[in-house]
Parts: sequence; structure tokens; C-alpha cells
Amino acid sequence: MANKLFRKKNVDQIIRASLSDGSGGLAKVLGVRDLVSLGIAAIVGAGIFSTIGLASYNGGPAVSLLFVFVAVACVFTALSYAQFASTVPVSGSAYTYAYVAFGELFAWIIGWALILEYAVSNMVVAISWSQYFVSMLEGFGIHLPGWLTMAPGYAVEAYVKLQEQGVGSLSGIERSAAAAYEQAPRLGDLPLIFDLPAGLITFLVTWLVYIGIKESRTASNVMVAIKIGVILFVILGGAFFVKPENWTPFAPNGIEGVLSGVAAVFFAFIGFDSISTTAEECKNPQRDLPKAMILCLLICAVLYVLITLVLTGMVNYTEMNVKDPLAYVFEYVGLDYMAGIVSVTSVVAITSALLVFQLAQPRIWMTMSRDGLLWKRFATIHPKYKTPSFATVVTGVLVAVPALFFKMDFFVDLTSVGTFFAFILVCAGVLYMDHTGISKQSRFRVPYINGKYLITIGLFIAAYAVYYYGQETISEWRNLSVAEIIEHKLLVIVFWFVWIALSVMGYRYRFSLLPVAGILINLYLMSQLGASNWLIFIVWLLIGLLVYFGYGYRHSKLNNNAAG
Ligand code: ALA
Repeated sequence: MANKLFRKKNVDQIIRASLSDGSGGLAKVLGVRDLVSLGIAAIVGAGIFSTIGLASYNGGPAVSLLFVFVAVACVFTALSYAQFASTVPVSGSAYTYAYVAFGELFAWIIGWALILEYAVSNMVVAISWSQYFVSMLEGFGIHLPGWLTMAPGYAVEAYVKLQEQGVGSLSGIERSAAAAYEQAPRLGDLPLIFDLPAGLITFLVTWLVYIGIKESRTASNVMVAIKIGVILFVILGGAFFVKPENWTPFAPNGIEGVLSGVAAVFFAFIGFDSISTTAEECKNPQRDLPKAMILCLLICAVLYVLITLVLTGMVNYTEMNVKDPLAYVFEYVGLDYMAGIVSVTSVVAITSALLVFQLAQPRIWMTMSRDGLLWKRFATIHPKYKTPSFATVVTGVLVAVPALFFKMDFFVDLTSVGTFFAFILVCAGVLYMDHTGISKQSRFRVPYINGKYLITIGLFIAAYAVYYYGQETISEWRNLSVAEIIEHKLLVIVFWFVWIALSVMGYRYRFSLLPVAGILINLYLMSQLGASNWLIFIVWLLIGLLVYFGYGYRHSKLNNNAAG
């Protein structure tokens, strides 16, 4: 059984299959500039347009530094992705890479986690789109009833707060949410509250994807130009309204406040890996993919840091808990027309992010279905439109329905935990490729720095730093009972154990330092997400395993090959 669970595809087999199914004939047209453009199309979305608001509210201006830290973690991961993409230059994703490195079970798990990255993140993007759309309509004097534009959770929470603490305790947003609850039509006792624009835009984009809209270079480049344009507009226009006194205190809620924004900040970077799916259409994937991924990350990191500084400089961080922060800051300083421009352009910009992931998800399912791990219908190609029609419709329903009814924050956390997990496996995959010699076939390799001693030295330095600078944390731990430590700190303990294990293995196998750094930084950030997110993620994985053992394990193509 273990043999079957870890059965692997080999690199030659994958490349041969891609040539024989016709996809080898894809036009090789993409260069670095196109790839960077595609990357930015996927990366810049709800993260910077919406979730940055709450992150800044909790962490203050110091959240800008968190963007730098998270970008570093992503660069290490991007290098690992690039090595895989240059070894297995076919239109796969982390899913295909895992099939080569770790075998089928891990490939399945990673494919299952990618659903979180692609489909669940799009629920967030759809909700963010709705928030800017509503704000744009308001700019034109059109007011949609509140109960048609929000998740019921917000309205119920605000209404309960109103009942318990009185109207004086509510913020402006909470007042509108409570009003939405009171004004909503009822089905019996049940108030009808849902985010109609979020559902509608998802259906619309899914329909475009279904009828075969192609992510043509030109369309993508135009959308990206609009995105960068709106962000530069906010940075340059907003810079005139920055009041440096708003940057003090820089980290009002300490490191904890800053780290509470990990999921939101990481969410803003998710998507750079999606360009690895275009490997077959690159002129020179081995050279261009690594360059493009790093460039995307650098450009986004610089823009994100600047925009955080501008937003928190224009408006005190305590005012930042809003849904459309980029437009709101201009409203706040009395520039309604600039807020209007930002709202309109943001609606266009966010649509493109939705489109990219809505295109990617069904194609990953299609690949998994071709491998026999998902039902055959997921690989059905529409006779006229030549798109994976069934998988596209399923993606549409899967994203649209929750976007109508659920709160954004939950999906941000879930997406982030799933993506961290996938990133850690990709970094670990490089160590495996080095160990087994597959790396010799890689045209691009993560620059090798011998980690034999360095991983352990790093461990000692970190432990020393915690001992000398983390006295507060240590005394906090001392006051916890064993049960409390297990409940609240288990993930941090896992992090330190993994570091110890990597030190030992790194010494033995001379691990490459950069992928190890990628694993550790991703795991550290992941450990900051809170136990409830991990629990939900584990439940998600268990459901995935049920599907795998109920179907994929028996229907896998590799199984049939072996049998035949
Ligand atoms: N990085 C993407 C976004 O922020 C997922 O929307």
C-alpha cells in the first residue's frame, strides 16, 4: 500500500505526456515582461485593496515592516518554485511538482490545499470587489440597501452589539450593519441578508472564463497598468496629505498587533506562484520564470510598503478598520473626487485578480482529473468553447455561494494557512530533489549555500535572542499551565522542533540553506495564525483524504498503468 501511496511520476514521463496530449504545441510566446505582468495581475487584489485596512488598524504603521518580512519568505519560496518549474517545465503547478518529488498522496494533498489558494482566495476577492463597487455606486449617488451588500454575520454581530452596548458604542460601519439587520426583509423570522454584488461578479467572471476568454497578453497588460496606476495614484497623491505624527506610535499594539496581520499581509502576496503554470508557454522558462517571480515580488513589496506608509500617514491607524481603505483615506481628507477615481479604477483592477484565479482553478482540477485523481467529468472540454466547462461551472458555484453569505476574514485566514502549507512542501521538495539527484536535471537551481552548520548556528542564535530579548514572552509562558501551553502555543513548539530536526538532517545531508530558510520562515508565520485556523485546515485535509481514498487512490492513472 505504501508503494502505491507514494507512487511518483518521473520528469520524462510528465514531459512526454504533455507533448503527446497536444499541449506541447502551445505557443511559446511569453517573455519576462509578460510573466511579470501576469504575476502582478494575480498578486495585486483584495489584499492591498481591502485586508490591509484591518491589518493596519491592529498593527499600526509597523505593518509596513511585516510586508518586508513576508516578502522575504516569499522570495525563498519563489526560488524553490522556479527550480521545480525549470525541472518540470509543463503547465502544472505545485501539484505536478509534488507528484515528482513526493509521490501521489502528497500531490493530492497539495492539490487539495491549492483549492484553498485559488478558490477560497477568490471568495475574498469577490467580497472586496463588492465593497469597492458599493462605494463606487455611492459616489454616483446610488445607494443599494445594506441587506443586499453584506454577509449576514456582520449585520447580526452589529445588531447584537447595538442591543447590548447601545448605539454610542458602534462605529459608522457597525451602525450601517445594524440598520441592515433591522431593515432586511424576513422569511418567517429569518432576515434575508447577503452580498449580492459579490455573487454576481463571480457568476459574470465565471461565464467569461466558461466561454473561453483568453488571458491574452494585451488584456492582462492593460489591467495591470490600471492596477499599478491606481496604486501609484494613491501613493503619489496621498503623499501630500501624510502627517508624520500619525506614524507615532509606530507599533501601537507591539509585535503581537503587527503579527495579527500575518494572514492579511501574506494574502496580499499570494499568487506569484501562479505564473509557474505558464511554463509551457514561456520562450525560456528556465531563465525567465525565476527572474519574473523575483521581480514580481520585489515590485509588489515596494508598492505595498509605500502604500502602507502613505495610508497610515494620511489617517490615524485607529480609523483604518474600513472595507475600502484606498478610497476611504481620500474621503477622510475631504477629496471626494479622488476617492471616486480610486473606487472606479479599483473595481476594474480587482476584477482582473478574480479572473486570473477563476481561470487557474479549473485547470488544476482538469490536470488532477486527467491523472485519475478526480472524477473524469472535471476534465471535460466544452466542444465549442474549448474550456474545461464542468470544472469551470463547479468553481463558479463553489466561489459564488460562500461569497454571498460569509465574512471575508474567515476566508483570508483559511487561504493563508493552506498556501503556507503548500509553500513549505515546495521548499521541502527542493531538498528532496537535491537529495535524490533530480536537481541535476534542473536548468535553474536555488543557489546552494551549504547548511551543514549554518542551520544549527541559526538555531542557537535564535534561541539566544529569545532568551535575551524575549523575557516578556518567557514569563508569559511560565504563567501558563501545561494544558494552556498545548492549547495556545503548540504551533510555536512545532516550529522549534522542526528547526531542531532540520538542523540534524541538514548536518547529515548538507541541506541547501535557502529552502530551509523558506520552510522555517513560512512555518513561523503560519504558527502565528492561531490554532482555530489550523484546526479548520486539518479538517479540510481530512475531507481531502476521504475523497482521495474514496476515489483517487483506486482510479489513479498510475494505478492502472501498474495494473496494466
Ligand atoms: N494576492 C491576491 C490578493 O490580494 C490573492 O487578492
